[in-house]
Amino acid sequence: MTFSDAWADVEVRHAATADRKFLSLFDDTGRADTFRCDTSDMRLDYSKTNIDAETRDALLALAEAADVAAHRDAMFSGQKINQTEGRAVLHTALRNLDGGPVLVDGTDVMPGVLDTLGRMGVFADEIRSSHITNVVNIGIGGSDLGPAMAVQALSPYHDGPAVHFVSNVDAADVSDTLRGLDPKTTLVIVASKTFTTVETMTNARTARAWMSEGGGDPGTQFAALSTSEDGTSQFGIPPERVFGFEDWVGGRYSLWGPIGLSLMIGIGRRGFMAFLRGGQAMDLHFQAAQGAENMPLMHALVGIWHNQFCGHATRAVLPYDQRLGQLPAYFQQLEMESNGKSVRMDGSDVPVHTGPVVWGAPGTNGQHAFYQLIHQGTRTIPCEFMIAAQGHEPDLEHHHHLLVANCLAQSEALMRGRSTDEARVLMREKGFEGAELDRQAAHRVFSGNRPSVTLAYPKLDPFVLGQIIALYEHRVFVEGVILGINSFDQWGVELGKELATALQPVVEGAQTADGKDGSTQALVDFVQRHRVP
Ligand code: F6P
Repeated sequence: MTFSDAWADVEVRHAATADRKFLSLFDDTGRADTFRCDTSDMRLDYSKTNIDAETRDALLALAEAADVAAHRDAMFSGQKINQTEGRAVLHTALRNLDGGPVLVDGTDVMPGVLDTLGRMGVFADEIRSSHITNVVNIGIGGSDLGPAMAVQALSPYHDGPAVHFVSNVDAADVSDTLRGLDPKTTLVIVASKTFTTVETMTNARTARAWMSEGGGDPGTQFAALSTSEDGTSQFGIPPERVFGFEDWVGGRYSLWGPIGLSLMIGIGRRGFMAFLRGGQAMDLHFQAAQGAENMPLMHALVGIWHNQFCGHATRAVLPYDQRLGQLPAYFQQLEMESNGKSVRMDGSDVPVHTGPVVWGAPGTNGQHAFYQLIHQGTRTIPCEFMIAAQGHEPDLEHHHHLLVANCLAQSEALMRGRSTDEARVLMREKGFEGAELDRQAAHRVFSGNRPSVTLAYPKLDPFVLGQIIALYEHRVFVEGVILGINSFDQWGVELGKELATALQPVVEGAQTADGKDGSTQALVDFVQRHRVP
C-alpha cells in the first residue's frame, strides 16, 4: 500500500468515528486487555481513546507504508539518517552494554563508548570518595535538562555529593546556585557538546572566577563533557578530566553518555548502569516487538492519531510522580526540538501539522491549576498520565494510594464526563429548581469523550526511568518518520542565536540600533534608559 493510501485510510477511520462516544468501546469487555502494550514490567494503556481495532490496523498500515522498521534499523545500525548534518544517530550505542559492534563509516564505535563509560565510572568513584561535597553541572538544553530531570527523578538512590544545575545566562541562576557553596569543595562540570554555547561558556567563566577568588582550584576542580577537544583544552581543562563523545549523539539524546556524569556521581556507577540497562531493554523491545505489541510504535501511532488526524494541537504530560517534575520540560525539548519542523527530509513542505505543543506538570498539583481547562475547556487535550504502582515511602503508603486514585480518577472523568441529566440530579439534590436548576446544572456538565493514555510502572527506579526515556525517544523518532521529517537537527534555534550575537553590542551601547525594526529600537532604548548608570 502506498503511504498516501494508508494516510487516506486513517482519515476515513477518523471521519467514520469522530462523533462516537468512545466509552461505548468498553462494551467489548476485553478492550482493556487488547488496547495496551506491555514490556516485562511496564504497561501503556491506550484503551481510553477512540481507537478501535480497525483504526489501529489502519495506523499500523500507515507505519508500515512509512517503512518505520527500515528507518529504525537504519538508525540502530549507524547509517547517517540525520541527513541535513550528515550524521549517524546513535545514542542507542551509549546503552548497548553487551550488544554487538556498531559501525560508523566502517569503524566499531563500541570500544570507544565502553572506554569512556569506564573512565566516567572511575572518575565518579573518585569524586564520591573525595572531599567534594557539591557538584555543579553547567550546561543548557540537552546538556542540562536530561541530567537535571534524572537527578531529581532518582533522588531516593542519591548517595553522592549534592548535585546542582546552572543553565540560564541570567546571572540569577549562577549566583543563586553558587551562593552558599564552598569553592574549595565544589566540582564544576562544564557540559556542552559544542563547547561554544554562549550561555554555558559565560556561566563557566563566572564559576571559574568564583572558584579562584574563593580559594578553590579550577585546575583540578573543573571537568568537561564535550565533543570538542579544542574547546575544552582552550578553556584549560586537562584531558584526563574531559569526557568526550561523538557528533552522532544529539544534544537532547545525550543523557546516556558523558552528559550523564552528574547523575552517575549522584547515584553511583551501579545505579547509572541500571539506568542504561533500562534504556537498552526498551531498545531491544523496540527492535523485536511486532506491530501492536510494540510500545514505542503504538505510543507514536496514538500520538499521530490525536495530533494529525483528530487535530489536537497540544499534548499534556502528567506524571503522578513528584520526582518527575522536570519530565515535561525534558519532553518539551525531546519532542518539540525534534519534530517541530515545517519541511520534510527532501526539503519539501510538510503538508500537515507536525509536532504537537508538549506541556504538563505533576499530578496532583496540576489538578488544582490547569485541569479545569482539560476537563471543561473548549479544546481537547490528549493527556499522558504516568503512575508507579509503588512509591518510595512505605511508611506513607496512604499518600500513594491517594495519588493512584487521583490519577485513575482523572482519566476516568475525562472519558466518562457528566451528562446534563446527571448534573440536574445533583443540583436538584442541592435544592435548586426551575431555571436556576438548569443554569447551575449547565456549569456542572462535563462533555467527557476526552482521550488519555496511562503509562504504569512498578516503581521509579533507575531501570524504569531508563525505559521511560528510551520509550519517548523512540516514540518521537517514529512520529518523525511518519511525518517524513528529520528529527535530529534543530536549525530553528539558529536565527535567534545569530540575532542575539548581533544585538549584544547594541545592548551594551557599543553600536547603535540603526537598521533594527522600530519595536526592537524602542525596547533597546527603554532598557538603556532604565539601567543603573
Ligand atoms: O540551541 C539548541 C541546542 O543546540 C540544543 O540542541 C542543545 O541541547 C543545546 O543547544 C546545548 O548545546 P551544547 O551542548 O552544544 O552546549
